[in-house]
Amino acid sequence: MGFSVPWSWLIALSFLLCMGGEVRCDCTETNMQIEGGHYKLTKQLRAGSMLVYNCPVGYYPHPAMTSLCQPNGSWKPAPKRFSPQRCRLVECPDPSVLEYGNVSPPQEKYFVDNETTYECYSGYTMRGSTKRICLPSGKWSGSTPICSRDSGDHCADPGIPAGASRTGNMFGNGGTVRYSCNGNLFLMGSKERVCQENGQWSGNEPACYYKHTYDTSLEVSEEFGSSIKNTLTILEPTGGIEAGRKIAVSKNGSLNIYIAVDISESIEEHHINSSRAAIKTLITKISSFTVAPNYEILFYNCDIYEVVNILDFWDGTVPLSSVVRVLENFAVGGESNGIRDTFLERMTMIKMRVGEEDFKEHRHVLIVFTDGAYNMGEPAPTVAKIKDIVYHENNLSCHIYFTDIYIFAIGEEIFDEDLRPLTAGEDGKHYFRMKDITDLHETFDDIINEEDVKGLCGLHKDYDMGTKDSKRKRYPWVAFVIVQKDGISKKCLGSLVSPDFVLTAAHCLPFGTIPEHVTVEIDDGQGRVKKVKMFKIHERYNVNAKVHERVSEFYDYDVALIQLAKPVEISAAARPICIPCTKETSQALKLVGASTCEQQEKLLLKNHLESLSFLTRTSNLVDEKTVLAKLGDNRGECISHALDAEGIDTDDPEVAVTENFLCTGGRNPQRDHIACRGDAGGAVFKNYALRTIQVALVSWGNKDLCKTTSGLVESDDTSRDFHINLFKVVPFLKSVLGNDNQDEYAPLQFLES
Ligand SMILES: *[C@@H]1O[C@H](CO)[C@@H](O)[C@H](O)[C@H]1NC(C)=O
Ligand SMILES: *[C@@H]1O[C@H](CO)[C@@H](O)[C@H](O)[C@H]1NC(C)=O
Ligand SMILES: *[C@@H]1O[C@H](CO)[C@@H](O)[C@H](O)[C@H]1NC(C)=O
Ligand SMILES: *[C@@H]1O[C@H](CO)[C@@H](O)[C@H](O)[C@H]1NC(C)=O
Ligand SMILES: *[C@@H]1O[C@H](CO)[C@@H](O)[C@H](O)[C@H]1NC(C)=O
Repeated sequence: MGFSVPWSWLIALSFLLCMGGEVRCDCTETNMQIEGGHYKLTKQLRAGSMLVYNCPVGYYPHPAMTSLCQPNGSWKPAPKRFSPQRCRLVECPDPSVLEYGNVSPPQEKYFVDNETTYECYSGYTMRGSTKRICLPSGKWSGSTPICSRDSGDHCADPGIPAGASRTGNMFGNGGTVRYSCNGNLFLMGSKERVCQENGQWSGNEPACYYKHTYDTSLEVSEEFGSSIKNTLTILEPTGGIEAGRKIAVSKNGSLNIYIAVDISESIEEHHINSSRAAIKTLITKISSFTVAPNYEILFYNCDIYEVVNILDFWDGTVPLSSVVRVLENFAVGGESNGIRDTFLERMTMIKMRVGEEDFKEHRHVLIVFTDGAYNMGEPAPTVAKIKDIVYHENNLSCHIYFTDIYIFAIGEEIFDEDLRPLTAGEDGKHYFRMKDITDLHETFDDIINEEDVKGLCGLHKDYDMGTKDSKRKRYPWVAFVIVQKDGISKKCLGSLVSPDFVLTAAHCLPFGTIPEHVTVEIDDGQGRVKKVKMFKIHERYNVNAKVHERVSEFYDYDVALIQLAKPVEISAAARPICIPCTKETSQALKLVGASTCEQQEKLLLKNHLESLSFLTRTSNLVDEKTVLAKLGDNRGECISHALDAEGIDTDDPEVAVTENFLCTGGRNPQRDHIACRGDAGGAVFKNYALRTIQVALVSWGNKDLCKTTSGLVESDDTSRDFHINLFKVVPFLKSVLGNDNQDEYAPLQFLES
């Protein structure tokens, strides 16, 4: 692999640097300032601290990106007297390498925001961009312009990327071209490409990078996304695909994903949090379009911390939620498991368990996150550690097991020459240089193309960046229902359950309400306020039904479906929630084969205390209230408090609270939130990986604790809320949403039983 430093020396060095022990001095900040920017220190001025320069967008630190405080108190590199540290304009590689065409304006150097245009000589035709702009990432916008004549070659002219030179001009079958980068640029992508039988060039287009060039989130999500999808689809057995999204992987054809995260102590804590968030997003994303792979996840600095052990996946099912929980709870500074060479060790054990034959059907993907430089200012320890993980000391045989090795190199200064050769894989890019890890989880989030998953109920973005847009994406099904009648305006919540229908409480649409009184607010980018075509209330809803049993207001069957005048435009920001007993919900719950309603209910409402959520309208769109539904043994005590409600004068709580209600509230075993008036009609839901399933609907409560406040109000000892259990009103939902005797809207597919 061309590593010049002997392996054993690398290991020794890594331990030496990690253990420290020698006398250490502090560095000083003298002459370390940067003109036009600022710097931060990873460990103040102590030995081993990394000084990291920062410049505004469109600039980069020069001559150094970082500097390391050495044990004797001097910086490496030391500040240069005649070349003071400053922020320089970002430069893009030379575009005038174009063959058979002109680039204007001709310049010696091209800086950020400079525009260039491209024209071919007569007789040549243009492919690629005719106009490009130098971007702050140090890359040209658009694609490489290529001027070529139709020569009837087997492969089309692959062009010359900016800053590169090419040798080889034979574009026939088997023809080879080689690339190198000029000056101080280095090459990313394929050094050599061969014209293949199918008329395509092998590998991927190379690009020339400066030290300051980086990949944007969008580029990473596109390139990594298409590459990892490729790996996932290789595993698709024929016939197992349904609507292009269900991929069945047999146990003997498993996908094993190994994730290693560099958490060198000098990395700031928020970086670790960001990597944790990124991994969480990545694995939940992968799970939403394929059967769950098996995971090995470890964090490493001088030690290796095994967070998730892949062997656990053979001892039974490991739900994604528990992987995520372990990941969230992982804290640096805990005990290292003291293992080394984990990946090879784990592979060997998998091989022993599944047998030689089946092991051949396993695919192994390795994903490494590293900041390369922050570590110790030297590439050696980082590279040593990764090699250690990938290769098992100096035995390269482990490497060949991996289908793909991806490296995400993050930070200001990255040791590309050392890291890049460690990647492996046929298609696409496997090495990414990123400036910052902060947004990586969003990057992974974008890996799933919205178009592919347009119809999926309950799919939502799992984070809230504090903006309205991100809230909307987190709760894309939320709808506000407003009834204006006799000069009084009544507000309720509702949930989008299909592009045409919003589910809400029947009591939100009191007797005498007509569709013209009702509006629904859903921000789908097509106008927030929606007109209503009609609504349907459950035929058994009758608020006066039990007056004679001394229940002045009776809310059984408190459900209604509102049909919108026009269907909602489905997107990441407006998408239906999953509801009980539909086929889609079975898919969301990963129930295989012919599933039943009962299976869904058992999965969602199985514990005697079940964590659920509902929303409350706030100035910042909505907030989430969390509650425990009291089921089974806990139900009796919970519903007994219904008797405290005004207007209920019976001794039997079940007269008011039929078995169609779920009960929440109280302070035991945790203090639940309590519903306020405006929360009525809203979804009571449960998240299952990235999907959300509505199990109930907020109906009524025994006390109004929200008189003076609203929002996240907490329960007292005896306050209780009662929610219509949607599993009990499926015939009603099915009669409207599943109605296939009409052609106004696409019916939802309900389960047979
Ligand atoms: C500090 O140590 C480094 C190597 O550890 C050495 O190259 C450098 O010259 C030393 N500087 C001083 C001022 O002693
Ligand atoms: C290119 O950018 C540099 C730096 O911003 C600027 O001075 C120069 O005028 C630009 N050239 C053109 C042709 O726009
Ligand atoms: C998986 O293993 C089982 C039993 O070991 C075997 O019957 C089956 O054919 C294998 N599947 C594939 C896809 O090889
Ligand atoms: C990182 O996460 C932990 C636990 O989730 C939290 O306590 C800590 O405040 C976070 N640190 C930063 C810098 O975000
Ligand atoms: C390398 O590892 C493989 C698999 O574990 C083993 O069979 C082989 O003997 C090892 N080679 C060396 C030189 O250690």
